[in-house]
Amino acid sequence: MSKLIKIFDTTLRDGEQSPGCSMNLKEKIEMAKQLERLKVDIIEAGFAAASPGDMNAIREIASEMINVTVASLARAEKDDIDKAWESIRQAADPRIHTFIATSPIHMKYKLQMKPEQVMDQAEAMVKYAKKYVSNIEFSAEDATRSEIDFLAKIFTRAIKAGATTINIPDTVGYTTPDEYYEFLMELRRKCPALDRVAISVHCHNDLGLGVANSLAAMRAGATQIECTINGIGERAGNAALEEIVMAVNTRKDRYDYQFNIETTQIIRSSELLTSITGVKVQPNKAIVGSNAFAHEAGIHQHGMLSNKATYEIMTPESVGLTKNKLVLGKHSGRHAFNDKIISMGYHLTKGELDEAFKKFKDIADKKKEVYDRDIDALVSRQNIDVPKELSLERFVINSGNTITSTASVRIIIKNEMKEEVATGDGPIDAVFKAIEKIVGKRLKLEDYALNSVTEGEDALGDATVKLRENGHVYIGRGLSTDVVEASVKAYINAVNKMIYDQEQNKEAV
Ligand code: KIV
Ligand code: ZN
Repeated sequence: MSKLIKIFDTTLRDGEQSPGCSMNLKEKIEMAKQLERLKVDIIEAGFAAASPGDMNAIREIASEMINVTVASLARAEKDDIDKAWESIRQAADPRIHTFIATSPIHMKYKLQMKPEQVMDQAEAMVKYAKKYVSNIEFSAEDATRSEIDFLAKIFTRAIKAGATTINIPDTVGYTTPDEYYEFLMELRRKCPALDRVAISVHCHNDLGLGVANSLAAMRAGATQIECTINGIGERAGNAALEEIVMAVNTRKDRYDYQFNIETTQIIRSSELLTSITGVKVQPNKAIVGSNAFAHEAGIHQHGMLSNKATYEIMTPESVGLTKNKLVLGKHSGRHAFNDKIISMGYHLTKGELDEAFKKFKDIADKKKEVYDRDIDALVSRQNIDVPKELSLERFVINSGNTITSTASVRIIIKNEMKEEVATGDGPIDAVFKAIEKIVGKRLKLEDYALNSVTEGEDALGDATVKLRENGHVYIGRGLSTDVVEASVKAYINAVNKMIYDQEQNKEAV
């Protein structure tokens, strides 16, 4: 029987901390639900002391998750630990994750503490956290640049104080697979108590070695791997969950380990995250990139036709890539739609189902065939919808290669109808300027992208708009078979998210 390795997902904490990846409350909850469907063992839901908004999001996630441990991060300080506990006390299986830096450079310049003080603080704070809950993780930040004897001592004391998981992070992505393996083996020799607790690793990707280091750590006895979807995280990111899991599953001959992960949920997890953050993975990204299972070259295609194993080391189906499976058409009824939604793992209320069915009918009217990915885009988008302070009534565009583009847009804002006309450099620019006039605020268009959800001439257009206001970036998404309409919807969605975010922050304070 292969050894079970736990997956600790930190997409909502380390991942969310990285630039351009922040999520609002609804988005975090939807992502957490997807992580539960993916069957990760532990979700690190956030850093409660960071802000009242973070605390609130962790609390909501903790009270919704049933089959997964929910961890909340805290510096090794009483106030942080109190807040961490406050955020997860409702969880079915709560964990406090407390950390302190242990490398000479961090202790001297960041903490301005002597090693003895760091050791005392770590021990005292593990004991302090223990009064709240038994499940305690202790992390030695920058462990791979720490002195090994010091680490052995601090871990021995943390374990004695009650830590049940010890995390040995490569915080700055500095180590290499062979060095990490030797380091962990030596640490286990110097600190035999480690063999009585879960040994965790948390590898950053600054040298592109996050996944390789995590694999080496498993060989050295790690029983928990910390990682993120699509490898998002501080700087170059964290080790990518999908790469670690598929590397082990594909090379069972080398790695006799198993995970609880439901691999067929990998693509959906990746796409949901992209849809929320607007940060696309590169096409050649392992496992989840759009080219990961594409075979262009004629010689490859020939081989594939004779025997798929010539160029395919894992099947696209194993990660949930359904070959654009045709699911429904415009004559499909509510029952067929409902069954499809359930088979995709969604649990919608009657109201949500009615709304999704209406959207599906609209799409099916315009598009001959509706695929799994269309439905996924529609439902996951609906679940993270924010209240519609602004809604589109209509728009008219006049554009061409010999005239200045003009757009007229009519929007309902809080039951009031507003209409504006603007000219611009092309139809999209004109229509965005007209909306900006209606909103009455200078909004910087940080980014705009248009993609298609599936292939084909009548594919759904998927527009992303990033708007910056007051140092915050708001990401809006819009779907339609008409690309201008998709863009208008995306812009309005970004404005609605801005309003929602500002309301949430007011409430949380
Ligand atoms: O990279 C790191 O060391 C961390 C710790 C807080 C675990 O994120
Ligand atoms: Zn980290």
